[in-house]
Amino acid sequence: MLKLLFIGDIVGRPGREIVADRLPRLRQERGIDFVIANGENAAAGAGITGTIAKSILENGVDAITLGDHVWDQRGWENEIGQIDRVCRPANLPSKCPGWDHLIIESRGFRVALFTVLGRSFMNMKADCPFQTADRLVEQLRAQADAIIVEIHAEATSEKQAMGWHLDGRVTAVLGTHTHVPTADATILPKGTAFMCDVGMTGPYASVLGREVRPVVERFIDGMPRRFEVATEDVRLSAALIEIGASSTNAQKIELITVRM
Ligand SMILES: [Fe+2]
Ligand SMILES: [Fe+2]
Repeated sequence: MLKLLFIGDIVGRPGREIVADRLPRLRQERGIDFVIANGENAAAGAGITGTIAKSILENGVDAITLGDHVWDQRGWENEIGQIDRVCRPANLPSKCPGWDHLIIESRGFRVALFTVLGRSFMNMKADCPFQTADRLVEQLRAQADAIIVEIHAEATSEKQAMGWHLDGRVTAVLGTHTHVPTADATILPKGTAFMCDVGMTGPYASVLGREVRPVVERFIDGMPRRFEVATEDVRLSAALIEIGASSTNAQKIELITVRM
């Protein structure tokens, strides 16, 4: 059996600090073998840098995924290809740098992993996430014992559709991007673990991780403002998945919340 933890979008320094502080103990207490984290908001809430990616990987994370904020930090496009265990969304245009999937071995399990961006209410140039997922699942099936698919999307409908589309063909379909954990963790009928959003890892006294006041004011008057990363009520939010030895199906999925 393999226990895999998928940590939702790490937001800024508070998100990085709770991962560094709490992940080692969580790994030990829950017997977690493998940890994936979305790092698209790790650098001051927008994007990631090489230094930050390396520090997250040193703090007990085995693989980092990204989302629509993938290119927010200048220079990252030159670094992404040089850091192992980081992948960019798979359905970005093919000329974009970075791996479109990862295969990492843990306790004899080969875990394959990729992210697809949704296209509803998303402002990124991206190919069809369903066709990209079909192509990669076909390619990875023979090379991996478990396949984890992240659907980084705004619309719950698109995320649910991806879960049903891949049910029985992958181990888990996990949503990210909306930063709010959903109460729908389930094993779909053909054995795929699913959750619309695993939530963010960062300050919850906020609007999606940012200081409340400037966001509220922006909604009222539409004027541009700086949205600093908030600091209070920091939580780590993740999905914990158990994978059986004899099949790629998931046996169990639960939401994990750890408070600072
Ligand atoms: Fe995010
Ligand atoms: Fe996002």
